[in-house]
Amino acid sequence: MLHLHMTLAALSIALFTFRFALKMTNPEKLQARWLKITPHVIDTLLFVVGIIMMVQYALYPGQVPWMTEKLLAVVAYIFTGYYTLKLARNNTMRIIGYLGAMGWVILVARVAMTKQNFLL
Ligand code: HEM
Repeated sequence: MLHLHMTLAALSIALFTFRFALKMTNPEKLQARWLKITPHVIDTLLFVVGIIMMVQYALYPGQVPWMTEKLLAVVAYIFTGYYTLKLARNNTMRIIGYLGAMGWVILVARVAMTKQNFLL
């Protein structure tokens, strides 16, 4: 389960990076059908597997402080990712958004591995 979760997380980050690179260079290629569907499937599976493990190990946000911080950081990753691919109006803003999203991913992974709060 944990291995699947980490594989899905790596795929999610790789697909986001690929879409960011396409948006900067060949935005019309982002219309490809597989690029509209696959990232959502991967991200949904990542979430579902995360929630299954949360219940399995009774690591509930609100009760387990590092889990609260991890989930908040995941929400920030999703928002900065959305900003990068949809809201940012030029490539400078996209680069800033991408770096921001990567910062949140690093926090998510760090908090998951140390099981200790970093910011909160
Ligand atoms: C960007 C998204 C995510 C990344 C990069 C990520 C990364 C990780 C990593 C690296 C671990 C393994 C920690 C270890 O070494 O034991 C882990 C474990 C875990 N993750 Fe995630 N995760 C993400 C999203 C989520 C989400 C959305 C949830 C819940 C809804 C979640 C719930 C969990 C749980 C419950 C564990 C098990 C903790 C344990 O080892 O006891 N993760 N995650």
